[in-house]
Amino acid sequence: MLNAARSRQQATDIEIIPMGGPCGAEIRGVDLSTEISDAVIAQIQQAWNDHLVIFFRGQTVTQEQQLAFAARFGDLGSRKQAPEHLRNKTEGLLQLDPKILLVSNIKMNGVPIGAFGDGDMWFHIDSGYTNRPYRYTFLYGVELPSSGGDTLFSNTYLAYEAVPERLKKFLADKRALHIHEYKRTAQVDVDGDISDAPHHYHPVFITHPYTGKKALFVDRLMTARIEGVSKSESDDILAELYEIGEREAFIYAHKWRLGDFVMWDNLATIHARTDFPRGERRLMRRCTVDGEPVRG
Ligand code: SIN
Repeated sequence: MLNAARSRQQATDIEIIPMGGPCGAEIRGVDLSTEISDAVIAQIQQAWNDHLVIFFRGQTVTQEQQLAFAARFGDLGSRKQAPEHLRNKTEGLLQLDPKILLVSNIKMNGVPIGAFGDGDMWFHIDSGYTNRPYRYTFLYGVELPSSGGDTLFSNTYLAYEAVPERLKKFLADKRALHIHEYKRTAQVDVDGDISDAPHHYHPVFITHPYTGKKALFVDRLMTARIEGVSKSESDDILAELYEIGEREAFIYAHKWRLGDFVMWDNLATIHARTDFPRGERRLMRRCTVDGEPVRG
């Protein structure tokens, strides 16, 4: 339960510390386990629009408090139901609340408790393979390995700006296929039968619903084919776009500390995860806010 007896956080308490790079800011002076005023939420929303990825250190938040905080930014998203044959990759033993996804490599009696297991993950957009990709993601660090497991965020407004004019023109009205089989470092083979793998077509360049800015909406893990061009041309273009989206200059790397609460704009960033030592536990609690169909 939220503790109503504790004083409301005031807008004057909040401090925003930009990371000084392409995205990312730390917010200080907010305890996410308390009741937060509308004025503070408005400041957080503004910082979020400005910095795309924001984080709070040293938080102690229950699942209920995490969901209550996330719900201040929109309707909570539900975990996507994978098709039956892929379900063991997403449905861990402790995936008990439909609004929460446990991201973890921990196993109980040999069975994973959560999703995404060990190792690195390529850049992706959360639920980019659906017709309404999540608007926002909120990830809380519960157990961390001794090193690695960083989450990398790339600013896709900057990526859009960096796309050469010839490609901006050529791709202006094009869509790309986003498809997912819950692999972490491999694409789906789209030359085979894809009817069993969740997929959707989105514009290659989207207009962000809040800021009105253009963003590159392509990622290495799930964007597999540009619609209406040959396979080889599509492969070449996508290789160029992946490279632009993953440029170091556009990336903020979040090195996790216990109690970090990180939230990102899923329409203005792509994210990836670095490797971490096998056998070391990593447990993150994730929730989301629903999105709308994206516009070009
Ligand atoms: C995610 O992609 O939602 C999880 C990222 C992470 O495990 O750092």
